[in-house]
Amino acid sequence: MNTHRAKVDRFAGPSKLVDALSDRICSGTGPILDAGCGFGRNGLLLRARGASVVFADNDGSRLSKLAKHLETLDKDASHAPTRIVQTDLNRGWPFRSGLFTAVIAIHFIPLGAIAEMTRCMAPGGTLVIESYGGHGENWRTLPPAEFTPTILSRLFYIESYVEHQVGPATIDAVSFSVCAVKQ
Ligand SMILES: C[S@@+](CC[C@H](N)C(=O)[O-])C[C@H]1O[C@@H](n2cnc3c(N)ncnc32)[C@H](O)[C@@H]1O
Repeated sequence: MNTHRAKVDRFAGPSKLVDALSDRICSGTGPILDAGCGFGRNGLLLRARGASVVFADNDGSRLSKLAKHLETLDKDASHAPTRIVQTDLNRGWPFRSGLFTAVIAIHFIPLGAIAEMTRCMAPGGTLVIESYGGHGENWRTLPPAEFTPTILSRLFYIESYVEHQVGPATIDAVSFSVCAVKQ
């Protein structure tokens, strides 16, 4: 195995959805939260497109690899402010109210923290969530059909929503992606 390539690949290949929506995600004037950022592949794309990004994850080892990677990127470039925050996003979110003009959560589903997520977003802010797929046993932790737009629609205008049935045919579970605007 080529370990150098494996290291590089952690930071390559952002979500196609984030790539496609990046103009929209970056259109606000405030910072963007990459919630459950992992090694940061999606926030790094937005940062490269000029956005100020806050990377948040509860896994310190992923965040320190991201921090090292950012140091290598910063040698030659100037960027909007970037923060890395280690925090459990299933608990209170350590950000001030109305801070973020966009939140992305890719392969991390913050539906258990909707009140906190909404509090931290500016009115008119963009929310993009892309769930993981249903492979292996993942379907066990995915929501039922239409669950996500139903709970988000109390506080967000749903701009687009796509879902795919996953898991055994008798189970109501979907992988999904959603783009929504905070009311
Ligand atoms: C499948 S990875 C996706 C990482 C990244 N969003 C991406 O698309 O490459 C899920 C990430 O969510 C993080 N995570 C899981 N539970 C979390 C929690 N309660 N608070 C913060 N981060 C969490 C994990 O540490 C992991 O980095």
